[in-house]
Order: sequence, then C-alpha cells, then structure tokens
Amino acid sequence: MESHRNEFQIGILGGGQLARMSMMAAQRMGLKAISLDEDSQSPAAQVGPFQLGSIHNPESIAQLMARCEKITFENEFIRGSTIREACHLAKFNQADVIPGIECLETIQDKLTQRQAYERAGVPSPKAVSAMRASELGFPCVLKARYGGYDGKGTIFINSPEEFEALKSQKELSDWLAEEKVKFVSELAVMVVSTIPITQSHGRFLTFPAMVTEQKNYVCDLVYPPSDKNIQKRAEEVAISAVKAVGGVGLFGVELFLTESGEILVNEMAPRPHNSGHYTLDWGGISQFEAHMTTVAGLISHITHGSPTCMANILGCDGANDYLSGLSKVIKHHPEARMQW
Ligand SMILES: Nc1ncnc2c1ncn2[C@@H]1O[C@H](COP(=O)(O)OP(=O)(O)OP(=O)(O)O)[C@@H](O)[C@H]1O
Ligand SMILES: [Mg+2]
Repeated sequence: MESHRNEFQIGILGGGQLARMSMMAAQRMGLKAISLDEDSQSPAAQVGPFQLGSIHNPESIAQLMARCEKITFENEFIRGSTIREACHLAKFNQADVIPGIECLETIQDKLTQRQAYERAGVPSPKAVSAMRASELGFPCVLKARYGGYDGKGTIFINSPEEFEALKSQKELSDWLAEEKVKFVSELAVMVVSTIPITQSHGRFLTFPAMVTEQKNYVCDLVYPPSDKNIQKRAEEVAISAVKAVGGVGLFGVELFLTESGEILVNEMAPRPHNSGHYTLDWGGISQFEAHMTTVAGLISHITHGSPTCMANILGCDGANDYLSGLSKVIKHHPEARMQW
C-alpha cells in the first residue's frame, strides 16, 4: 500500500461539477488528482482518473486514501465518522483531510456552525433549535440542520399559528430556527486559509466579495458591489467566519448586507462555491486552481483578474436545445464566456 502513496497528490470525494472543474484545474497545473463516485460517467470521471465507489462508504474512501497524499471533497455532507473510519482503515493521517474533519463537522450541522460564529463574536443571525423558535419571535426562518441546499430545507414562518400548524405536521428535531434578516443584498466571498488556524501564523487570502442575487433560493446573478468599502468589510467578516470554524482550504462564505449596513454571515461551504465560477474567466487565478493548490499546500497569493459579472443558467421545462441558446450568446454577446 505504502508504495502507491504518491500515485495521486489529491483525491476528491465526489464526481460532480465541482470535482470536474477542480480536476481540470489540477491537470493544467500538472497536479495529479482522482475523483471518487459511483457513476463511471460522472462529470469528473469524464475528464480524468476516477475510482468507482460511494463517498459514504469508509472502505471506498480508504481505497482512495491509499493512493493519495491529500483528500478533499466537493460537498460537505459526508459524515465525519465515515472519514475517520476510512483514515483508520487506510492508516491515513487525519491532518491530510482538507479542510479538516472537525471543521467539516462544525459546518455540516447548520446549528453548530451558527454556534461557532456566536462563540467567536462573528455577526450572524441568532439561532436556536427549532422547538425553541418562539424565543426568537416571528417572522423567523426554519432550516434543516443537515443536508440543505438550494433552499431545500428552508421554511419561512410568519406567525405563531403558522409555527404550530407546521409543528403538528412535521418532525422538527433536526431543524433550527433563526432570526429572519431584512437584508438589502446578499454577498459571497471565497476565502483561502493556507495553514491550520491553530498555528498562530494562519494566513487568509480572499477573492473579491461579490453580490449574489438569488432567484427561488438559487444563485442567479453574481457581480461586484459598487461600494468598495462594503466589499472590504465583507471580506473581513468572511475571514472571521473561516477563523471561527478552523480548518484549512477554500471556503465559500455567504453573507447578508442589512438595511443598517451591517454584514452578517449566513452560511459557508468548505469547498469551491457556485458564486465563484466567474473566476474561471476573469483572468486571475480561478477558485479551482486556488482549491487544488491550497490542498496541495502550494498557494501563496491570489492574483486578481478583471471585475466580472456572471449569470447562472439552469435547465427548465420548455428550454429547448442548449445549443440554440449557446449560438445566440455567441452571436449577440461575443464578450461573454460560457461554462457548461
Ligand atoms: N435568516 C434568514 N433571513 C432571511 N433570509 C434568509 C435567511 N436564511 C436564508 N435566507 C434566504 O434563503 C436562501 C437560502 O438559505 P441558505 O443559504 O441558508 O440555504 P441553502 O439551501 O443551504 O442554500 P445553498 O443553496 O446556498 O446551499 C438564502 O440565500 C437567503 O436568500
Ligand atoms: Mg446558501
């Protein structure tokens, strides 16, 4: 086993679009990366080496670990206990799991994530377990503690009556309640933490804070804020949020800008983030290059590109042929770059 240790520098748990783009970034820099997914036709498997297996199976992860120097993932939903067991099976150093197993566990439960912010004094909506929602008052927001994405697992509650009605229909033990924020806009910042923050010389790098407009809880538009001061403050708050959860690697931090000009942390993802895809074309380092070089322990700074705007286009009923849309973009917006 030991002799295979350096076959790959980076193993990525998952084979979706984020793993694919990370693999492609690794390849262009000459870093060897491999993905793990059950599907031999996964987006990542289409562009590079892959191992077949479940990201939730410790034995599959252990097999991957035996071939890699570092392990990272493309979503935060793998249980910490699964990764610990895999490390045990493969005799893999837990410190070589990026962004760190404890950090992953803090983030994957949205309630412990909020509590980490509160303990560290990072501005964030107040949150309690869902059964205690009345303590916050209404309106408030209920969220699934585990596994939420694209608004699946987010319920807005306007009154005590609505809450009582929901309680009688739904098991809420794995849900949290938090203050509803009156925000004027949402922002996202990609942060790189280059060494574990337990060491005193932790170094934090950021991509520029961007406005993210959501449509039906899905990120629709991304563009730079007009106010440079807000951009700078958002980057500082995002770094404080990453410090609060510890760990090393690339993090996508989602923020609220309130009416009174306060910046609050909504949530974070310990991986590349859909708001950062524009960095593929902005002329500076991309979030995927940053992710791969951070995991490999090589990053030292982030070269910025030009201010860039991005639209996120999702498939929907009646959308017709993708190629007809692509040809219109190419014809009418030759300055635009497409990423599929
Ligand atoms: N406390 C809040 N107050 C007001 N609006 C909120 C609050 N929390 C979430 N929202 C709105 O709901 C959206 C989805 O919430 P959140 O980002 O927490 O969930 P998610 O489903 O995990 O999202 P993602 O797709 O980013 O993983 C936010 O982008 C924001 O527009
Ligand atoms: Mg979100």
